[in-house]
Amino acid sequence: MSGQLSPIDKAKFVAAKRAVDFVEDGMRVGLGTGSTSAWMVRCLGELVREEGLKIRGVPTSTRTAELARQVGIEVISLDEAKWLDLTIDGADEVDSDLNLIKGGGGALLQEKIVATASDQMIVIADAAKEVGQLGAFPLPIEVIPFGWQTTKALVEETLINVDVLTRDTTLRMNGEAPYVTDEGNYIIDMHLSRIGNPRQLALIVNQIPGVVENGLFIDICDIVVIGHGDGRVEVRDINAGTVEEDRVDFLENENLFIDL
Ligand code: 5RP
Repeated sequence: MSGQLSPIDKAKFVAAKRAVDFVEDGMRVGLGTGSTSAWMVRCLGELVREEGLKIRGVPTSTRTAELARQVGIEVISLDEAKWLDLTIDGADEVDSDLNLIKGGGGALLQEKIVATASDQMIVIADAAKEVGQLGAFPLPIEVIPFGWQTTKALVEETLINVDVLTRDTTLRMNGEAPYVTDEGNYIIDMHLSRIGNPRQLALIVNQIPGVVENGLFIDICDIVVIGHGDGRVEVRDINAGTVEEDRVDFLENENLFIDL
């Protein structure tokens, strides 16, 4: 069955599979959003069902909440959990300092709140997400619908004085209508090509009235697990300064592919 997965899906799967090794009994775990995180939720669900792992999960989107319940994970709200032991989530780009662009799946606001409320954040990604400099992937910002066009104009004006390569902004669409987040907001994607100073940009953008949050995750991620299509994984720990190499066996995990 795993033979039917594309190399990129295999890479996402092995990263997710390796990351759930960090989850221990009794933990409150932040559950990310996106295709890589969906693998992680399935892997965790299997541990809950087959090995009796006891965890409570705080999902970062309605999509993830639904999947987590389906696979048998107890779902609680962040307010119930208050603080989390660990969050595992995907990313759109990861640089060598483990700073991230997130929000390609439109869940950046809840993802940032949940990751920030965690002792540790682990990012899971295929190798294509690793970049020398952030910015080729459009940077999403979540804005409130009221006056969004004015907010967009203010964002564009702000970008004039920022070290980026291009400055296009687009409202994210869902067919003919604006894409609406779980919080009822819109998303503006900023096409910047290269971000010279992500830390500065993250602070400046959040000053603009109407902007709720941006998809730059600076100093939030502790560990990144990079997966490859052949089963290899690298685990980079920014605090310990270590890089470990490992391998995940697809054959041992065939049951996870049955429903696909
Ligand atoms: C959702 C996200 C995702 O983690 C990010 O877009 C990566 O998605 P995928 O795992 O599908 O490549 O930030 O808001």
